[in-house]
Amino acid sequence: MIDNTAYKIEVTKVAKSKINDVDFDNLGFGSVFTDHMLVCDYKDGAWSAPKITPYQPITLDPSARIFHYGQSIFEGLKAYKDAEDTVWLFRPLDNCKRLNISAKRLAIPELPEAYFMEGLKTLLRIDSQWVPKSEGSSLYVRPFMFATGEGFHASPSDQYKFIIACSPSGAYFSGKVKVLIEEKYSRSANGGVGFAKAAGNYAGQFYPTQLANKKGYQQVIWTDDNTHEYIEEAGAMNIFVRINDTLITTPISDRILDGITRKSIIDIAKEEGITVIVRKITVKELVGAANDGSLKEMFGAGTAAVVSPIAAFGYKDKDYDLPELENSYASFLKKRITDIQTNKTEDIFGWRYKV
Ligand code: PLP
Ligand code: COI
Repeated sequence: MIDNTAYKIEVTKVAKSKINDVDFDNLGFGSVFTDHMLVCDYKDGAWSAPKITPYQPITLDPSARIFHYGQSIFEGLKAYKDAEDTVWLFRPLDNCKRLNISAKRLAIPELPEAYFMEGLKTLLRIDSQWVPKSEGSSLYVRPFMFATGEGFHASPSDQYKFIIACSPSGAYFSGKVKVLIEEKYSRSANGGVGFAKAAGNYAGQFYPTQLANKKGYQQVIWTDDNTHEYIEEAGAMNIFVRINDTLITTPISDRILDGITRKSIIDIAKEEGITVIVRKITVKELVGAANDGSLKEMFGAGTAAVVSPIAAFGYKDKDYDLPELENSYASFLKKRITDIQTNKTEDIFGWRYKV
């Protein structure tokens, strides 16, 4: 991989910003976009230097490989503004590295790290006014990469596009969620692409999630594809379980995304003196702990929702309610991580990245 830092980012700005049309008090998640985007093209065996252009639609040939063979990956991270209006990212290099892990698995050429990091920084400086400041909101940053090469031949594309688009956003979920433990469908399998942020992983989740929604659950708890005896992820988030005072999370594998929120929560919890165990968790154990009262909490962890507490889980036509806790690990850890992200507290881990 070339890591060519000697390049210039070409910038074309919008004639007029659309920021005044945006209601920053009522931001949903990922539905309004900033004035600019970053674009890199892969052609003739190399990635071109990033360009910043006005946010705009893209035109693709109907035979573009993305439509037929799904070579498409993405990332998600957030930019925050502190009291002094300084803009911060959280562990962005980890997103860059994971993008290239996903790229490799999908036979997409890896992007030079400097294009990602410098491109991201330049884009955020240009659109810095769009980074919301109010509690619970942030600028959701979506880097993504897909096959643009033409032709129906089922082989890797020879052309790709990398784009970073940004969306000022509020909370991903409001309130606690009720989840269904999946007994039939799987999001990933050994040897598959579960560890990658491949677009198709999410497409495959929609139908089983729709079925769960119809039964009154907001999310699915994915179990291992082989036995459905082990819990693996919570929707598009990593899963944490608190039994008595021990926090447990499943180990990452071929089937599970190596979440940046997950690993940060593990480090913060350990630093706070919470016992954290990384091991497999069986559904049987979860049901047993719910029945004997030792199951105190379950929550999902991911960039979009940060920490998403679970109110109840359903399994084999029975619902198991979790207790309402005054001092939950979920709210404590969410506060600790968002305080670091938003520069409200010291960052002993060196995770914060100044834009
Ligand atoms: N698991 C899946 C399947 C995801 O899509 C995500 C979101 O990115 C996560 C876990 C959480 O990862 P992160 O904390 O890096 O956002
Ligand atoms: C996350 O950031 O937690 C995600 O899973 C991204 C989601 C919008 C797909």
